[in-house]
Amino acid sequence: MTYSMEATIEATRLEEQVFQKNYNIAEELSRFQFSSTEVVLDAGCGTGVLARYLADQFNIKKIDGLDYSDLRIKQASDFSKAKAGQNIQFYQQDLSNINPEFHNKYDTVICRYVLEHTPDPIKVMKELKKTLKTNGRLIIFELDGVFINLYSQNKKFNEYMKEITKNFNFDLEIGRKLPSLLKMAGFKNVEWDAELISCKRERLREEILNTEKRFIALEPYLTQMLGSSLRYQEFAKLYLEEMAQPENTLVFTKYICSAT
Ligand SMILES: C[S@@+](CC[C@H](N)C(=O)[O-])C[C@H]1O[C@@H](n2cnc3c(N)ncnc32)[C@H](O)[C@@H]1O
Repeated sequence: MTYSMEATIEATRLEEQVFQKNYNIAEELSRFQFSSTEVVLDAGCGTGVLARYLADQFNIKKIDGLDYSDLRIKQASDFSKAKAGQNIQFYQQDLSNINPEFHNKYDTVICRYVLEHTPDPIKVMKELKKTLKTNGRLIIFELDGVFINLYSQNKKFNEYMKEITKNFNFDLEIGRKLPSLLKMAGFKNVEWDAELISCKRERLREEILNTEKRFIALEPYLTQMLGSSLRYQEFAKLYLEEMAQPENTLVFTKYICSAT
């Protein structure tokens, strides 16, 4: 599959999301150390928000970002121009077939919320392995159950969800699979941790706003899948309404994995 959310609104969503409680980048990275001699790869960098955060918060020698979307690479480069003096560069690359010029280059590779979009995550992991120096480490952040875990007893909603999950080409349950996929890709010292994210109060409010933006970015994809713009609109409205019902629950898991 190809990543379907190219829209500019998706760039804004990615930039804002890192400050929300459910996707907080500072919290995610707080468990890792980086040294001043490290060369780091942001694999599937999107708008480069992670690369810029790393450059701001850690004393890291060099950070490269790779993404297969030309638009994202342009946005990432534009956003980073203001960061004069920081050693960040972005390159257009497909992570399932990375150019050998990037092999054996990185002490740390970070891949955040990307593998759910790739049809063959083991292939991507194997490619990322080639980019690591000997004893280099891979860090992955992924979700499990986001969007699809919304529980409601609304019949129409459940019919739509059945149709959507059957045809979705994202793996929204990738989190739980990561440790075994890493093993299959030949990684060693696989470690994982998981956090439960309960969408309540502020977390729910932020998730509703985030989902509104996801729906805008996903409009062409969902319209095609559901067969008409009318059905897309009905589903998006229903989903957001069901999110806001106090008796409905949305709980998902964030996986944080590392391996060498
Ligand atoms: C949800 S965004 C996450 C972006 C960024 N890592 C972040 O944390 O904000 C997923 C990104 O993965 C990229 N992507 C998906 N499949 C890819 C592939 N095979 N090769 C390179 N980039 C890919 C998309 O273009 C998109 O920018």
